[in-house]
Amino acid sequence: MNGVCLDVNPEGCVAGVRAWIDAEKASPALAAGPQSVLVLGASGGYGLAARVVAAFGGRAQTFGVSFERAPTTVRPATPGWYNNLAFDAAADEAGLLAETLVADAFLDATRKTVIERARACGFRPFDLVVYSLAAPVRVDPATGALHRSAIKPLGQAFTGHSLDMMTGQLSDITVDPATPEECAATVKVMGGEDWLLWCRALHGAGLLAPGATTVALSYIGPALTHAIYRSGTLGKAKEHLEQTASEIGALLADLRGRAYVSVHKALVTRASSVIPGMPPYLCALYQVMKAKGLQEGCVEQMDRLFRERLYAGGPVPVDAAGRIRLDDRELREDVQAEVASILSRLTSESVARETDLAGYRRESLALYGFDPGA
Ligand SMILES: NC(=O)c1ccc[n+]([C@@H]2O[C@H](COP(=O)([O-])OP(=O)(O)OC[C@H]3O[C@@H](n4cnc5c(N)ncnc54)[C@H](O)[C@@H]3O)[C@@H](O)[C@H]2O)c1
Repeated sequence: MNGVCLDVNPEGCVAGVRAWIDAEKASPALAAGPQSVLVLGASGGYGLAARVVAAFGGRAQTFGVSFERAPTTVRPATPGWYNNLAFDAAADEAGLLAETLVADAFLDATRKTVIERARACGFRPFDLVVYSLAAPVRVDPATGALHRSAIKPLGQAFTGHSLDMMTGQLSDITVDPATPEECAATVKVMGGEDWLLWCRALHGAGLLAPGATTVALSYIGPALTHAIYRSGTLGKAKEHLEQTASEIGALLADLRGRAYVSVHKALVTRASSVIPGMPPYLCALYQVMKAKGLQEGCVEQMDRLFRERLYAGGPVPVDAAGRIRLDDRELREDVQAEVASILSRLTSESVARETDLAGYRRESLALYGFDPGA
């Protein structure tokens, strides 16, 4: 097993979602949070956390869209399927309006279904739309062409380490630079085009409330991950996402709406586990951030986005490029100096001792509902 688990433990997935909900409920209620929220990419990671914070922190109505595989007679569903069931059950118990749709968010047909269902279920116009998709492929609704993203460097090859999280074995990996076509395809899948289409459709349908906010998630990371991330194909897609925020801001001007890209910290999710070279970085980062009392999970990051950025009462704090920053703790100079030092001397023999390999493994298995300690 190397980052991707082939089995799923449904009860464990349910317990994981319940733990996130309990964590959010333990925080003071969100007094000024959103009331009607659409989350695109709601079944795991940051999107699920946004849904949990909105619903269980602020008692918002939530509509969640995700792309998960249902169980068959011979194999279990994907983890997000069980996460959705767990969320819906908890929302129902709490008397919260929640609608969950499993469908390809890139399709115009899905936009139409969301609009129809939101009306039929009695949703108020959305005052928050969270765009948290992490997808490998997208069919462009305008052309019918299938685009496949490629997580690759640009210009020159990337060399780094892959990590077998069960044994701690590090192996050298080299990823060749992307072709211009691969880069363009990655921007098609993970850039802002689809986010804009969603905002246009919702706005056109009158399903965005006055003052509505939309936020899409991004990552920048430190210099030592730039070759594979920020300076690579995914970085180009994220730049496109950031450029799209201003276009969406203009679209929402008549509503006095706001569009932001929010930059988050690196965390173990299904999406991040497939980025070449990221696992050793995550293990070192977790080690340092935990030792300094700075570590946050998806729920803590989303809670901070709502409480201290979007709904803090004043102007939303942004960087010079207009982005919300929640990677402030990850990018602290002292954190990065220690992470770089650990990574510079890392070997298969030292990885368990010098990094939080155990925590990384625990969180990776938890994505599939497994508790290695059980
Ligand atoms: N994990 C990190 O370290 C990290 C850090 C910063 C920013 N981000 C960003 O956060 C966002 C979410 O990533 P994540 O790490 O939470 O990923 P994730 O894999 O946990 O979640 C991805 C979600 O997208 C959904 N999805 C994928 N394809 C879909 C489709 N075609 N239609 C509908 N839903 C679809 C999945 O069902 C899932 O709900 C991404 O934009 C990512 O770049 C992640």
